[in-house]
Amino acid sequence: MRKPPRGAGLFITFEGIDFCGKTTQARILASYLKGKGYNPLLIREPGGDRISEKIRKILLSEKNANMTPLTELLLYEASRAQLTQKVILPALQEGRSIICDRYYDSTLAYQSYGRGLDKRIIRWLNQIATYGLSPDLTILIDVPVEVSWKRREKEKRKKDRLEKEKIEFHRKIRQGYLKISRQNQKRMKVVDGTEDIDKTWQRVKRVVDSYLIKSYSLVKE
Ligand code: TMP
Repeated sequence: MRKPPRGAGLFITFEGIDFCGKTTQARILASYLKGKGYNPLLIREPGGDRISEKIRKILLSEKNANMTPLTELLLYEASRAQLTQKVILPALQEGRSIICDRYYDSTLAYQSYGRGLDKRIIRWLNQIATYGLSPDLTILIDVPVEVSWKRREKEKRKKDRLEKEKIEFHRKIRQGYLKISRQNQKRMKVVDGTEDIDKTWQRVKRVVDSYLIKSYSLVKE
């Protein structure tokens, strides 16, 4: 598949198991880049577009506990296809930068390593749903499942369908992510997320700054 035309915008994604802290880090990064003169668009997957947000509701509703793994996979890919074509590609073409809370690595981690679906099928569907687009930089916020589980217990809100899965499921996903990161060392950087928000942010910032210096020499003081 041909790569879609790209503008000068950066495309950065965050990955990690539930309760690893990536959403907070994505927000901090968005305001950091804003301060540096970028105009980043912060979006999430599944979601980020009206239709994709509707698909997100279906995916995460605890009422849909009997959803099959294949249905789940196809819904994540449908949400991604919509978001990529309607939001991500037009923004990148305008030269805007994007920070996306999850992208296609999540599908490999959750639906393959977690649910056991065939990796080749997932890679192929990821390719179709993203139009061949790949992030410039992916930050994997890594925490042992025991740490995420403690954070999960502290959260009083109702847990969604995926968050309700057993600890074993999340263990497989973490191992999957670490494997994916070893196979994509150039694009994917692992950041230890076990400490507090600020310490984790310092690590994320180091990764992003060094990426910017290496790739664009655009870090402004
Ligand atoms: P979030 O809570 O990080 O917004 O993500 C929603 C849930 O969806 C989370 O449990 C991870 C899961 N997920 C998948 O299983 N496959 C995917 O492709 C994506 C993007 C998310």
